[in-house]
Amino acid sequence: MPVADYLPERNLALELVRVTEAAAISAAREQGRGDKEAVDQAAVDAMRLVLSRTDLDGVVVIGEGEKDEAPMLYNGEVVGNGRPPLVDVAVDPVDGTRLTAEGRGGALAVIALAERGSMYSPGSLVYMDKLAVGEDAAGTVDIEAPVEYNLKQVAKANGKDIGEVTAVILERPRNDDYVRQVREAGARISLIGDGDIQGAITTAIRDNGIDIMFGIGGSPEAVTAACAMAALRGEIQCKLWPRDDSERDYASENGHDLTQVLTTRDLVDSDNTFFAATGVTTGALLRGVRFGGIHTSTHSVIMRSESGTVRFVEADHRVEWVEGEIKA
Ligand code: FBP
Repeated sequence: MPVADYLPERNLALELVRVTEAAAISAAREQGRGDKEAVDQAAVDAMRLVLSRTDLDGVVVIGEGEKDEAPMLYNGEVVGNGRPPLVDVAVDPVDGTRLTAEGRGGALAVIALAERGSMYSPGSLVYMDKLAVGEDAAGTVDIEAPVEYNLKQVAKANGKDIGEVTAVILERPRNDDYVRQVREAGARISLIGDGDIQGAITTAIRDNGIDIMFGIGGSPEAVTAACAMAALRGEIQCKLWPRDDSERDYASENGHDLTQVLTTRDLVDSDNTFFAATGVTTGALLRGVRFGGIHTSTHSVIMRSESGTVRFVEADHRVEWVEGEIKA
C-alpha cells in the first residue's frame, strides 16, 4: 500500500462528527440525574461503538485513563475498524461530566485525530498551566510573562482597551491567583465551572466575546484543545503542573521537562489535525442536545487544520436511527 494511504487524506472530521453526536445524545439522556459516572459511561459506550465502524486505524493517546482504571477508550487502546489512515486519537467523551450530571450548561462530547505519533502524552501528569488566545494574538503572548503583559498584548491584537478584554478562567482554588491578577489589571473575567477545551476554543472563535484563557486544568484537555487551536490558527501554551513531589519525581524519571513551555506544535506535531465536538448541554460554543418526539437535534463544530476549515453542523436525527446506531 502506498505510504499516502496510511496518512489522513480525506476530511475525517466529517466522519468524526457522527461519533461525537452519538456520544452527546447518549450523555444528554443522563442530564441532571446527578450521576457523573452514568454520563461518562453512556458517552463512552456510544463513542466506542460508532468509532468501531469508522474507517481508521487509531491508537488512543489521550483517553479515559490507564488500562487498569478505564475499561474502555483507555490510553493505548486500538480503535476504528482497522483500515487506514493510521492516527493518534484523543477522546473526551464528555468534557463536563459534572456539568451534565448537575444539569448545567457548557458540556461537550469531543474527539480529535492527527497522524500516528504526533500527539504528546503527558503520562500520569494530570494538570497543566494553560494560556490560549485566538489568531490575532497568536505569537504575541507568553505563558511565562506576567498576566498583565499578556492581557495588554491580547488587547492590542484584538483592538480593545484592557477593560474590554475578557479572560476565561476555570474556577478552582489553584486558579485564584489568576483571578486576582486579571482583576488587578482591570480586565473582565468569565469563570467556568468545568470544560476548558471549550474555554480555549472560545478564545479563537471570532465575536463570541472571549479573548484569552488562563489557568490550570487537565493535561489531556490541553492536547485535545491543541488539535482545535491548530485548525483555528490560535495558540495554546502550557506547562506541566505537578501537584506534589511524587509527580515531580515521576516527571524526571519519565523525561517530562517541567520547565518547558509546550506550544501547540509540541502538544500535537501535525499540520493535519481533525477535531469534532457536539454540545451535550448548551454553552458558549454549542447548543446542547434537544429531544423532541421522534426527532433529536444536535449542534456540532468540526475542524481540520490543513485547510483551516471550521464548520458548524446542525443535525436532526430520527430517533429510530439514533437508537439503531447506538444500540445495534
Ligand atoms: P471531565 O468532565 O472530563 O471530568 O473534565 C472537566 C474539566 O473541567 C476539564 O475541562 C478540565 O481540564 C479538568 O476537568 C480540570 O480538572 P479538575 O476538575 O480536576 O480541576
